[in-house]
Amino acid sequence: MSEGGVPVVSEAHNVKTYQVPNKYYEKHPAKPHLTLDEYKAQYRESIENPDKFWGEKARELLHWDIPFQTVRNGSFEHGDVSWFLEGRLNACYNCVDRHAFKHPERPAIIYEADEPSEGRIITYGELLREVCKLAFVLRQMGVRKGDTVAIYMPMIPEALVAFLAIVRIGAVHSVVFAGFSAESLRDRVLDARSKVVITTDEGKRGGKVIGTKRIVDDALKQCPEVKNVLVYRRTGSEVPWTKGRDYWWHEEVNKYPGYCAPTLMDSEDPLFLLYTSGSTGKPKGVVHTTAGYLLGAAMTGKYTFDLHPGDKMGTAGDIGWITGHTYVVYAPLLLGVSTLVFEGTPAYPEFSRYWDIIEKHGITQFYVAPTALRLLKRAGDHHINKQMKTLRVLGSVGEPIAEDVWKWYHQKVGHEECHVVDTYWQTETGSHAIAPMAGVTPTKPGSATLPFFGIEPAILDPVSGDELHGNDVEGVLAIKKPWPSMARTVWGSHQRFMEAYLNDYKGYYFTGDGAGRDHEGYYWIRGRVDDVVNVSGHRLSTAEVEAALIHHEAVAEAAVVGIADELTGQTVNAFVSLKDNFENTSEMRKSLTIQVRKSIGPFAAPKAVYIVNDLPKTRSGKIMRRILRKILSGEEDQLGDTSTLSDPSVVSAIIKTVQET
Ligand code: WTA
Repeated sequence: MSEGGVPVVSEAHNVKTYQVPNKYYEKHPAKPHLTLDEYKAQYRESIENPDKFWGEKARELLHWDIPFQTVRNGSFEHGDVSWFLEGRLNACYNCVDRHAFKHPERPAIIYEADEPSEGRIITYGELLREVCKLAFVLRQMGVRKGDTVAIYMPMIPEALVAFLAIVRIGAVHSVVFAGFSAESLRDRVLDARSKVVITTDEGKRGGKVIGTKRIVDDALKQCPEVKNVLVYRRTGSEVPWTKGRDYWWHEEVNKYPGYCAPTLMDSEDPLFLLYTSGSTGKPKGVVHTTAGYLLGAAMTGKYTFDLHPGDKMGTAGDIGWITGHTYVVYAPLLLGVSTLVFEGTPAYPEFSRYWDIIEKHGITQFYVAPTALRLLKRAGDHHINKQMKTLRVLGSVGEPIAEDVWKWYHQKVGHEECHVVDTYWQTETGSHAIAPMAGVTPTKPGSATLPFFGIEPAILDPVSGDELHGNDVEGVLAIKKPWPSMARTVWGSHQRFMEAYLNDYKGYYFTGDGAGRDHEGYYWIRGRVDDVVNVSGHRLSTAEVEAALIHHEAVAEAAVVGIADELTGQTVNAFVSLKDNFENTSEMRKSLTIQVRKSIGPFAAPKAVYIVNDLPKTRSGKIMRRILRKILSGEEDQLGDTSTLSDPSVVSAIIKTVQET
């Protein structure tokens, strides 16, 4: 844990409680799956009798080719959590085939292209054919059960086809967000040992063109194990081509028929890995397995979003992050509803883009990060000139949503007719951990409310590790018992998995977040207590940015801190000392920013780079980032005891640099 510690005890939680609006029920195609009392009773059962609860849900929501016999096995202590043993199933069959057989004409994907006029609808019947053809192509390229395949693609339907084709043949997808640089892509391809990469010639986003194939080519210069690159033609521009390695998607799929049988997988076979940032400089390939993850996705889709047949789920997150995995791809498709794939940005061509899309397609559940809401709120309410009568649920994800933004969402976007659900979860939890159930849970702006089924949260004293029982407590957030959709390991290093999540507080899964439980048992997430920062909903570690800076030839030492920001949630700020012979110039600062963009990706670029002579260090050489955070937050008068610094005079020099930059 960082020396930043847990945020101090919260303000009183005396905000108003919002009941589910009556209009919610009036608009409903039927009625919500549960009442509040049923939620409470089922929640209790999920904790007290998990085998019965999860066994029934797994049989109800998933199709099993061979039924499981053991619901649950393993523990946090031993790091061997496993679910639904002896069972066999296929993720793609569950997402596509079973719906395509019954309702081939039902829309599966609503593709809204970057240019509003260019989208299309893909039915479940079409989706099955597309997926099968691609599955043949991958097999032909030598992809076998258990192999990883990298996806580096923009938000287009073919990205989903790629996910599904990979898991259809028992392979494991490793999606790399298409905003990552060539170097980051290279590191992920190497770590996962992917032999095939799927990409596009180019991408289009917000009217701009992104050279995805060029970035893949750059990355693969140092990935000798990659045998094939499959390229979907998105824009049709000329792109460099490596003969024998690169193949066009459209040429390859035409060789194969529209059906192939899915590969049966064990419940605990890996479904995908997804790299995420933690306290160290090296991102972790978090591994999710098949049955437990799918059940978490289907359950939260059903209950948090109250999905019903005919609904149209509109998740604005990117498939490169967990929100895209679980709520663009798996949850809606498992439940057989339609899912929106939006290629563009909320500001293109106008700030009304989201609202236009909701109105045009009749979206029923909309799901987005507060960072986009803050941008749109700032742009002005005149952009919201649509009634959006179909909307029932407004979801928020990825960062705390401030009370004023919550209210704006509720009033201006939802016209007070929708249920706002603030969902707390993580790449590692796989699906919602603490979240209201739409149509069910009374909400309080800024609180993620109550735990999802099977999640038993615990607030721990960060120092002693003791659990703080009862209400009105504040500490770090942990989870007491394994749940089906939790990550099982870190690709290639189970040791790292144990250290990051299970060893800090024995017997608990540690989230890395601070949290409070109020007088009514509602949870309030306070933010990370480790070195993870959240920039516009993108999770980054300060250590990762520091590692990127250190690679610059001029850098002697670097310390990076996250600071609160009104628009992006947090920003990355870098303090750097230079080696002798290098000078503090504006070109140097620019070059350091470029270094981070190149090494990680544009979204990680520091908002400010401060070049200083020395960093504040303890006598043992540990950099005191807390002091840097205080200085940037304008709290120089609250630095606390600086006498432990090896050279206390560096503080005033840094304050001067910050003021002058
Ligand atoms: C933060 C994103 C407050 C939290 C789904 C967590 C939130 C990290 C919320 C995980 C929320 C996520 N309120 N904070 N509703 N949801 N977070 O892995 O700090 O990209 O640990 O998963 O985002 O980020 P990740």
